[in-house]
Amino acid sequence: MSCQNKGKEKSGVTYAILPEPAKLQPKPGQCRLSEAFQISCPGGMPEWEQLGHYLAALLRPATGFAWPVNEQGIPGKAIALIADASIVNPEAYRLHVAPGGIRICAGHPAGAFYAIQSLRQLLPPELEAGELRPGISWAVPCVEIEDAPRFPYRGMHLDVSRHFFPPEFIKRYIKLLAMHKMNHFHWHLTDDQGWRIEIKGYPKLQEIAAYRKETQEGHYSSQPRRYDGRPYGGYYTQEEVKDIVAYAQSRFVTIIPEIEMPGHCQAALAAYPELSCTGGPFETATHWGIFEEAFCTREATFQFLENVLSEVIGLFPGRFIHIGGDECFKGRWKNCPGCQQRIREEGLNGEQELQSYFIRRIERFLHSKGRGIIGWDEILEGGLAPRATVMSWRGAEGGIAAARQGHGVIMAPTSTCYFDYYQSMSDEEPLAIGGYLPLENVYGYEPVPPELNPEESLRILGVQGNLWTEYIPDARQAEYMAFPRAIALAEVGWSPKGKRDFGSFARRLMHHSRRLDELGVEYSRQAFGVRTAAVPAEGGGVEIRLSTLKEGASIRYTTDGQEPDNHSPEYSGPVKLMRDGVLMAATFEGGARASSIIRQEISVHRAAGRPIRLKHPPHSDYRHLPASVLVNGLPASETRFKDGEWLAWQEAPMEATIDLGILQPIESVGLHFFNDPGVWIYPPSAASLSFSDDGAIFHTPENMEERAEAGAQGRTQHRTFRPASIRARYIRIIAQPHGIIAEGAPGSGHLAWLLVGEIVVR
Ligand code: ACM
Ligand code: ZN
Repeated sequence: MSCQNKGKEKSGVTYAILPEPAKLQPKPGQCRLSEAFQISCPGGMPEWEQLGHYLAALLRPATGFAWPVNEQGIPGKAIALIADASIVNPEAYRLHVAPGGIRICAGHPAGAFYAIQSLRQLLPPELEAGELRPGISWAVPCVEIEDAPRFPYRGMHLDVSRHFFPPEFIKRYIKLLAMHKMNHFHWHLTDDQGWRIEIKGYPKLQEIAAYRKETQEGHYSSQPRRYDGRPYGGYYTQEEVKDIVAYAQSRFVTIIPEIEMPGHCQAALAAYPELSCTGGPFETATHWGIFEEAFCTREATFQFLENVLSEVIGLFPGRFIHIGGDECFKGRWKNCPGCQQRIREEGLNGEQELQSYFIRRIERFLHSKGRGIIGWDEILEGGLAPRATVMSWRGAEGGIAAARQGHGVIMAPTSTCYFDYYQSMSDEEPLAIGGYLPLENVYGYEPVPPELNPEESLRILGVQGNLWTEYIPDARQAEYMAFPRAIALAEVGWSPKGKRDFGSFARRLMHHSRRLDELGVEYSRQAFGVRTAAVPAEGGGVEIRLSTLKEGASIRYTTDGQEPDNHSPEYSGPVKLMRDGVLMAATFEGGARASSIIRQEISVHRAAGRPIRLKHPPHSDYRHLPASVLVNGLPASETRFKDGEWLAWQEAPMEATIDLGILQPIESVGLHFFNDPGVWIYPPSAASLSFSDDGAIFHTPENMEERAEAGAQGRTQHRTFRPASIRARYIRIIAQPHGIIAEGAPGSGHLAWLLVGEIVVR
């Protein structure tokens, strides 16, 4: 019998390593660990010896093995750590598991550390229990692995300003990143709602900027705003920061501290209002959104920031400091004599170039200290500072522009890397900012934009997932939002492009989830729930297809509005619905519900499944979706843009023509628009309807009644048109995008998005 069978788990996965190694060759047999092993390390290399002790400590609690850590050359069974200078990439390694022992070869301790992460994932998940687990066979399936990352930068971000996370959680987060071979932690330490790092030269940052008097409840777009009435805050002392930095170093994670400027600084201005253009007073922000305040560009601000950054440099040994640069309003600068004087003296062309001046000055200062800056992609506007690295978040465009200018780029676009978005369509999801980013969309992300040539592509340093925490109040929810999406992104960053396969990933993740359970990780199980897809049915109505990634689970569903239980019909093929209704479904295992319930509204209206033509294609981010999503019988989500049911335009109008097949009476046409100015999405400036019998001559009836209503969560708009007694075969709908966003609103100066959902014809 081969080792593959012996090592096989119920899920049929033997080698569940995440991220997937570059090369993995299964071998027969297994290596059974026992009391008799030792760990051997290269002599005279303290970093390697430390790794040996790390490995011993990793294995000891669950196995009880008290292995010695020796220099190489002592006879006996061993896990041998071997320094091999022929392995050039410091993160690369070879792992060789044979019945008689295990060898780890790397050119640098980082590579050996990653080999250890692969090795631990080949051991039973009980290894992670943190306490003795008797009766487990601690066997490793034999294998030869040769592995190295695709990208040098693989990171996760955490916003500790909107909510504060204790030092113990920061270390746990870093531990979980490192376990999945991520090597950067972007620590978003300052923002409008709180300053979280002790700066000894500026005690009011601790006394005032680290606290806010209360916190907004609910979604930021809810009006009127509600507050919890409770003071909130906290900060990391420099001693705590040093401890976290040392911990991260031991896990080969570089911390990138972010000190936001020139915007997102209201907490700092609450403490030091003299650094503003107006003199204040200010308070640390208590609600979410974007604020008008910015650091003034007078000399005093640069004094302050250089002093702050000098302390920051002393704490963080990594090369990069993140200086923010995003979402800075320029209105205060426009009306400030000091800033206007700066513009004149420096010969700058307006406030855009003043922001550029600001960033360049800080870049020059940090460069003089041997450090480099990373900034959000807004730092491109008004001219990029020399040597700056760009973090591309508003899509890929910033990253493309920066790479073409010869700068390093980290890709973190909202649509695939913002883990504060919803990860499923379940009603049971905790409140999130919006959007929709299921696991598969993260996994499917390709960080190198096709627009770049091979040389420019090399400037894409890697990827990062961002975890903004307005709606993430505690560690538990942070883990829920981050995992398993961060693991999918870890594979995007590490594994060869050609080896990426979502089916394989899902099977390995299912196996891996038992390891996460042992570690107590509060990851989301939504990816293993029910997914829906709809197609127009033959002869009318809508056909719903259900699926799950969970092997061995059944799906049960209802169409009568009742929650599915163990007696509900079991799904065995497409479900056809001829009338409006609600389909609810969940997975079941062993007679019990195994996932949350998904709820899908179905609208079987006159246009459902009918041909639709678009005059102007939707925005390129949406072009993978067919026009038919506008008439597929599935209403778009009231809270989640990018749910696959919304299509978007920015510049061209949405112009759709629907063919109902035959001439028929039309009572109403319902249009659905997203409406969330905070994320630059506006309803149309105008919407019009016209009708035709032949598809050639269209006319707009007089006396058409039009009514607008807010959607259930207040973030969409329904517009219903009622033409007086009309018969038609064709309907044409034109909706004009809002245009340029006005001064003072988020995204001002940019084109607003127009999002169009289901077009419902009755
Ligand atoms: C960002 O999300 N404002 C970088
Ligand atoms: Zn000013």
